[in-house]
Amino acid sequence: MPTTVLVTGGAGFIGSHTCVELLENGYEVVVVDDHSNSSPVALERVAKTAGRPIAAAYRADLRDRGALDSVFAAHRIDSVIHFAAKKAVGESVGMPVAYYDVNVGGTTSLLSAMHAHGVRHLVFSSSCSVYGNADKVPLTEQDPPAPTNPYASTKWMCEQVLADTCRHLPELRVLALRYFNPVGAHPSGLLGEDPRGVPNNVMPYLAQVAVGRRERLSVFGDDYPTPDGTGIRDYIHVMDVAEGHRRALERLNDESGLRVLNLGTGVGSSVLELVSAFEQASGRPIPYEVTGRRAGDVAELVADPGAVKEAWNWAATRDLSAMCRDAWRFQELNPAGYGG
Ligand code: UFG
Repeated sequence: MPTTVLVTGGAGFIGSHTCVELLENGYEVVVVDDHSNSSPVALERVAKTAGRPIAAAYRADLRDRGALDSVFAAHRIDSVIHFAAKKAVGESVGMPVAYYDVNVGGTTSLLSAMHAHGVRHLVFSSSCSVYGNADKVPLTEQDPPAPTNPYASTKWMCEQVLADTCRHLPELRVLALRYFNPVGAHPSGLLGEDPRGVPNNVMPYLAQVAVGRRERLSVFGDDYPTPDGTGIRDYIHVMDVAEGHRRALERLNDESGLRVLNLGTGVGSSVLELVSAFEQASGRPIPYEVTGRRAGDVAELVADPGAVKEAWNWAATRDLSAMCRDAWRFQELNPAGYGG
């Protein structure tokens, strides 16, 4: 029997790429997504890219326990990958309660449904933003969490809920992956990042400027203590992140309880370096203007990817130019995203 994986948020950016990776490696995939920031078209593209369809897709909010129960009752789920969440730093500052409700409430609802149906394996989408204002980079999993915005707080809270639940339910096997900044797209150009409305994250915004959908990028602050004054992040190709999830599933049984791992490259790039890499990849000028800092932002977040390398003998391999090239290919082939 092939392993069946429930992917929450499977139509989203990282979720859709992970579904392809799973399908290509023989897994059966069931998706739950409320499409609040994703399109059902992404799942058609998943099937086209992988050459075979997912087993089932459900439109549901994770806080709806009744809906979750029906999904678990209809499939023999072996493992869960939990992506579904709200993820915009700036937005979270203006609507903290919604972030706690969706991100923490969605996770506890999912955990209780898993418990009710005897499902014990979970990979959780955490975030580098839990580290907050780091004193030094690169960051290891031992550096203390200190979230600076509600989005990051929800991720840290979910990790604590998972840690405590694992303490009391020793049969659980949970991996929390703290992603740094996933960007890029599937090299086919069929799958990519297509947020609803104005993009919150820098890469999809840049891509929409390059394709002419937006006039210019706002660079949020050039007075950070970094070489060019703009924020530094560890951008990681979404294909590496997707591959990381498959590895995570393969390694879930290694240890009981909760294990936390960074998923990054160890290489930091500033906003201006990203703009320049994207100009090169797209061959188009990217107009930008420097505006004020964004609430909740920090100067620099870069991973120490050593622990994942040691645990799985695995590391991300794709560089910034591949990330920009693939993000641009998706944008150029799909100028209006999945809606076009
Ligand atoms: N930035 C701009 N202009 C923009 C958007 C962002 O200058 O229009 C800057 C930010 O200030 C920051 C960098 O670009 O310095 C990256 O910002 P993003 O919004 O792309 O990403 P964050 O670092 O805020 O990270 C958040 C979450 C991560 C998540 C990531 C991608 O904290 O967990 O978004 O979804 F992985």
